[in-house]
Amino acid sequence: MSVGVGVLVSGSGTNLQALIDAAATPGYPAHIGVVISSRRDVQALDRARAAGIPAVWMTPRQHDSRQAYEQALTSELQRHSVEWVALAGFMRLLGKDFLEAWPERVLNIHPALLPAFPGLDAQGQAFEHGVRISGATVHLVDEGTDTGPILVQGAVPVLPEDDRDSLQQRILAMEHKIYPKALRWAVEGRLRRTGRTIEIDLPEGEQTWIMEPA
Ligand code: GRF
Repeated sequence: MSVGVGVLVSGSGTNLQALIDAAATPGYPAHIGVVISSRRDVQALDRARAAGIPAVWMTPRQHDSRQAYEQALTSELQRHSVEWVALAGFMRLLGKDFLEAWPERVLNIHPALLPAFPGLDAQGQAFEHGVRISGATVHLVDEGTDTGPILVQGAVPVLPEDDRDSLQQRILAMEHKIYPKALRWAVEGRLRRTGRTIEIDLPEGEQTWIMEPA
């Protein structure tokens, strides 16, 4: 039985596309039940429609409070019978009420090796800092900014000829590899939270990290 996942987006939706493509491969245990965007005319919504997935625009401005917005998000997700929520470039912080409605069921992808460089423009922060390795992280969402327990990380080198854009592209390509992998394990029920960390009952031969050769 395939598990329904709701994907929350705000932008170009390349990670959404990676999840859509993964879900279309035989045997993948999840399908995307609905895509909700906090912004109106974004490519992510076009990608959802092109894949035949319900595409919904819901902005906080349509609601009186953050709580009301998050309640509306939850209702919409429930209407589509999803069991997990994947944030993919969703530019809003989610509060207590939302997270309590989806306990340990919300994943996020962040374009840095957390806990380094949380928050906005992680790739730019890493580039400015002069790190030699960066990457991406899939983690469970908690109330902090990019602070939740880590599922999978992918590392990429920072090359001497890089600028912020080329680094961002290399990290993005890694994001597209690790998000479908992490989502698969999540919906297969392989995660076990032990305090700050997550144990994963890994399928044979798989790892919780990817290292990209230079
Ligand atoms: C990605 O870099 C993701 O890690 C970050 O926002 C960006 C979204 O890109 N949270 P896209 O919309 O998936 O192309």
